[in-house]
Amino acid sequence: MRIGIIGGSGLYKIEGVEIIKEIEINTPFGKPSDNYIYAKYKNFEIFFLSRHSREHSIPPHKINFRANIYGFKLLNVERIIGVSAVGGITKKPGEIVITSDFIDFSKRVNTFYDGKKVIHIDVSEPFCPILRNCLIESSKKLNIDVHSFGVYVQTEGPRLETPSEIKMFRMMGADVVGMTLVSEAILSRELEICYAGINVVTNYAAGIEGKKLTTKEVIENMNKNLYKVQSIILNAFDFIPVERNCPCSKALEDTNM
Ligand code: HPA
Repeated sequence: MRIGIIGGSGLYKIEGVEIIKEIEINTPFGKPSDNYIYAKYKNFEIFFLSRHSREHSIPPHKINFRANIYGFKLLNVERIIGVSAVGGITKKPGEIVITSDFIDFSKRVNTFYDGKKVIHIDVSEPFCPILRNCLIESSKKLNIDVHSFGVYVQTEGPRLETPSEIKMFRMMGADVVGMTLVSEAILSRELEICYAGINVVTNYAAGIEGKKLTTKEVIENMNKNLYKVQSIILNAFDFIPVERNCPCSKALEDTNM
């Protein structure tokens, strides 16, 4: 089974995971953020991609999301787990959220279908229900507390939000805020790849604590919780069924107008 993981570069240095090689990919949409790191764990084949590149040099609004996701398609990856740092609106720093829905406030063209073909992808269930459930079951087995539901609001970035924006997002039902996960979820669905997000709340969103948000706080809290995320993900593999019977695998059926 081939599984893709998108996240920070610290993510793939996990005990028990054997790194085999780096794979450089070119796509019709340009170059992905970095080479894919091909690794093995038990009988699973894992492809890691560093979302912002390993040098952390690509800001959220400059990420070539289409190339990143298309690269996974070329590698025959059918399932992707996205790991992200998020600001907490209804959730607290240190908490982990397996997102169940999203609101998109970014200004990007989050589609592969902007040519002649008119495709409207269904996102009634925006994250793969099976893959989400594997992460939730894995957390239960490991006794790690996670929120099994949560709405992720995506902003364009790279700036953080204003207190009024966060107030508005809260009224709309958002639980966490970030700049990347929604683009990945939509593009994966458009290529019939399963996608689930596991998010670490690294800070209170703007205006909640009334203090300045710092990148230091985000990095420190992410690193503090990385081992939990790594354990949840690796342990989740055992719950993933070989056959895909989720809506994602048939996402392109009945979409062409
Ligand atoms: N806002 C947007 N993205 C983020 C935040 C935040 O507060 N924290 C981590 N990523």
